[in-house]
Amino acid sequence: MFRQVHRRYDFFNHLFSLGNDIRWRRKSSTLLEFDSRDLILDVGAGTGDFSIAISRQSGAKVIALDLVPEMVERYRVKIDKKGLKNFSATLADGETLPFTDEVFDGVVAGFVGRNLLNLKQALLEIHRVLKIGGKVGFLEFCRTRNLLVKTLNWLYFRTIISQMGNLLLPRDLRAYTYLIDSIEGFYSIKELRKIFTDVGFLDIHYHQFNMGTVTLIVGKK
Ligand SMILES: C[S@@+](CC[C@H](N)C(=O)[O-])C[C@H]1O[C@@H](n2cnc3c(N)ncnc32)[C@H](O)[C@@H]1O
Repeated sequence: MFRQVHRRYDFFNHLFSLGNDIRWRRKSSTLLEFDSRDLILDVGAGTGDFSIAISRQSGAKVIALDLVPEMVERYRVKIDKKGLKNFSATLADGETLPFTDEVFDGVVAGFVGRNLLNLKQALLEIHRVLKIGGKVGFLEFCRTRNLLVKTLNWLYFRTIISQMGNLLLPRDLRAYTYLIDSIEGFYSIKELRKIFTDVGFLDIHYHQFNMGTVTLIVGKK
């Protein structure tokens, strides 16, 4: 899917979230409180907006990793264009990280969880590469049980986004109905918390944005 939409990924992200995705990443970066001496891994970094938000907030060095070559290329072009330092990008699978144990002070993953084949495996890998005391920040749309939010989500994604997708991007429409399908099929916060606990993360807590539709789950090794 990301091969299909990589050219307009940023545009549609900002349009469909009404610009809120920028705020969610910024707010998450602030809440994660990384340091300028930290080395951070951004799993499923895409075009790099979470990496950039983290580095701007903390000054940390960020290694971005993504499975899709087109997204890694977009990331590199964006970093070059903006003249940003402190970034590097790697093409790899987040479920088998190409790093030795305990090298990162922090790992972030923004809107990646729903796309992974095996979320627990990716979290085990994140846990493995984190230093003791290191922090994971996992930003994602989680399934909600709140009927009002569920209904509003359904209406927004199934009507407005589908119509906009139809008008603007007919061939890629399926990619955007995938958004709501994947949110409805994803874990609730409670379920996600249990997976984080099973993997071995400590001090697990979360912050919610956008009436609870978007969650930043934080855990420590
Ligand atoms: C919705 S995008 C999110 C991009 C970025 N993190 C953001 O905040 O906008 C999901 C990204 O995860 C990547 N991805 C999906 N499965 C992956 C995997 N197994 N390993 C690494 N990256 C993966 C996709 O290629 C895509 O770039």
